[in-house]
Amino acid sequence: MTKRSKIAGAGMYVPGRVVTNDDLAKLMDTSDEWIQQRSGIRERRYISEGETPALLAQRATEAALADAGLEPRDVDCILLATLSGEHDFPGTSFFLHERLDFGEIPCMDLRAQCSGFLFSLGMADSLIASGRFRRVLVVGAEVHSTGLEFATRGRDVTVLFGDGAGAVLLEANDDANDPAGVLEVRMHSEGKHATKLWVEAPGSAIQPTRLTHEMVDNGRIFPKMEGRFVFKHAVTRMPEVLNETLSAASVKLEDVDIFLFHQANLRINEYVANALGIPPEKCPYNIDRFGNCSAASIPMLLAELKRDGKVRSGSLVAMTGFGSGFTWASALVRM
Ligand SMILES: CC(C)(COP(=O)(O)OP(=O)(O)OC[C@H]1O[C@@H](n2cnc3c(N)ncnc32)[C@H](O)[C@@H]1OP(=O)(O)O)[C@@H](O)C(=O)NCCC(=O)NCCS
Repeated sequence: MTKRSKIAGAGMYVPGRVVTNDDLAKLMDTSDEWIQQRSGIRERRYISEGETPALLAQRATEAALADAGLEPRDVDCILLATLSGEHDFPGTSFFLHERLDFGEIPCMDLRAQCSGFLFSLGMADSLIASGRFRRVLVVGAEVHSTGLEFATRGRDVTVLFGDGAGAVLLEANDDANDPAGVLEVRMHSEGKHATKLWVEAPGSAIQPTRLTHEMVDNGRIFPKMEGRFVFKHAVTRMPEVLNETLSAASVKLEDVDIFLFHQANLRINEYVANALGIPPEKCPYNIDRFGNCSAASIPMLLAELKRDGKVRSGSLVAMTGFGSGFTWASALVRM
């Protein structure tokens, strides 16, 4: 019999350095008004010297384990979702592994951009369902700030992103009387749009050296995005996959207590909620304070809401995201 998995704990961490829209307006032609109107973002966090993605991941992991009442030695496997690897290789998960006493458990990075957390949750759920592992740590960790272009040329992307990490501890639920569990996860990709939101270099496809001086000079090391194209696909795919997930679980939209949308742009989420008739009070957000933290956004939001008692034992939570790739996914979880 397959085993059901449940979220036993959640944690989040953001670095201390606050960067406001006005701070960015000193570096590029933008304004607090433009950014807030288009995205809902007021400020974001950036790492300071000496801080790394693995450090953010470590702090989020410690918080998630404390929430679950567990120790690193209780974890059987680590899946870390990121699009901003600490180094080219090995993956960021290994630098996290180095920081805590996990023993010799396997760890791996999963690259599905802003859907990375939900893809990892889906994979972790399958690993537990198959009986291979009992407890899987799922982490989303991003440091965007060291890869953005702080000039007017990069302003469309730069103003949107921030640094942060979120983590959940997923474990087998053997108690037939405990309804907590991951009820359904649905994931999709569409590689034909891979370059609509991407960072071209450095990359192993670039010959002969992965990175040339010309690429640096021309800004091909910075993220490029067709903003309107991404927006249009996000507002179509997110309701689609959310409906697919609810229907697969035979759950009605109105029975969901809280909708956690990926924090890419408040306007995207308002559009999706409005299209589905979801009341705003069921769609909490933290993008105003943290910007888009890609794979970390959803677990960060979940951890904040759990800490504040807004997501409780028994809450029915639907998480939905869209990202580069393109990727999109949704998960329905009874806490
Ligand atoms: C990026 C986004 C906010 C831009 O909003 P938009 O209304 O589509 O704006 P446009 O791209 O059409 O640009 C409008 C104008 O604002 C300018 N602009 C772009 N970024 C700007 C900024 N940060 N500050 C000021 N002006 C800016 C553009 O250059 C353009 O100027 P022009 O009319 O002179 O050419 C929006 O497209 C978006 O949110 N897309 C999805 C992004 C996303 O979610 N990405 C992550 C997915 S995981």
